[in-house]
Amino acid sequence: MSLLFFLAKNHIAAETLENAVPRIKELNSKGLIVTIDRLGEYETSKKEASKATKEIINILETIDKERLNSSMSIKLTAIGLCISKRFCFRNIKKIMKIAKKLRIFIRFDMENSKYVPDTLDIYYRLYKKYKNLGCVIQAYLFRSFNDIENIGKIKGNVRIVKGAYKETSNTSFQTKSQINKSYRSLLFHSLKNSSFTAIATHDHLIIEDAKAFIKKNKIPKSRYEFQMLLGIRSNLQLKLISQGYNVRVYVPFGKNWIGYIYRRMREKKENFWFILRNVFSK
Ligand code: FDA
Repeated sequence: MSLLFFLAKNHIAAETLENAVPRIKELNSKGLIVTIDRLGEYETSKKEASKATKEIINILETIDKERLNSSMSIKLTAIGLCISKRFCFRNIKKIMKIAKKLRIFIRFDMENSKYVPDTLDIYYRLYKKYKNLGCVIQAYLFRSFNDIENIGKIKGNVRIVKGAYKETSNTSFQTKSQINKSYRSLLFHSLKNSSFTAIATHDHLIIEDAKAFIKKNKIPKSRYEFQMLLGIRSNLQLKLISQGYNVRVYVPFGKNWIGYIYRRMREKKENFWFILRNVFSK
């Protein structure tokens, strides 16, 4: 297990907020903006989901107090979406109230396709009142072009990702080339129609195409940014900064890192099999 934790440390700021803060300040000092993710998902106990809600509010207060240049990314299943939509809605409203007061941006991460309709529904309802709110669209889902058109109509704020969960061929594209094609069409539509587009990928070919599209269509810097995960392509993050682009790093922290690390390892399969062999040979 120790090797898995060693690799996790590269992708996770710390196990506690207190220890994550210096890491965030260091990223900020390099010109990188941050979005904090409190690790944890698929909560099935009301008590734990309420605790997660309180902890997220505490993180918002810490962002404010420590003057971190950071937004927050939230998984709705961490605060009750697996329990009931109404319960989750009550929790997220408490969070949005504080985030609005502190002027901190919140983005709902997107999880398995099962949770996409409820996550988007909650997003649309809250976006009417809270403009400091964004969502995520996954390029692998068949439904996503329709969703990006709807987000464009309300001038929403969206992060575009390829998609990190295991989905079936009933709901999603299965090959890299189909997913990349979908990503580009979502991206170009969003850059033209959404109020803000977060281009979240480590794929340098897509990043180059995004830069060319932005230049050709004169998309102002206030309407997009690049986003990458902590510990992945750090040099490219700094290179983009040096070229004058805004770059936000997704910084997870906390003790529940297994699910997050599993998804990162699946993306990098050669690492994944290497790790599994090590874990099970112990
Ligand atoms: P791809 O996987 O094709 O990788 C392109 C290149 O990047 C690779 O060739 C490799 O060089 C490098 N790379 C990618 N992953 C790596 C890794 N783990 N280690 C080392 N190098 C790696 N997903 C989701 O379903 N819901 C969400 O809310 C989010 N949120 C989110 C936020 C941000 C800021 C990012 C960057 C990503 C997400 N994701 C996500 C994850 C996303 O869906 C996707 O799984 C990963 O970003 C990997 O896909 P890439 O776009 O990087 O392309």
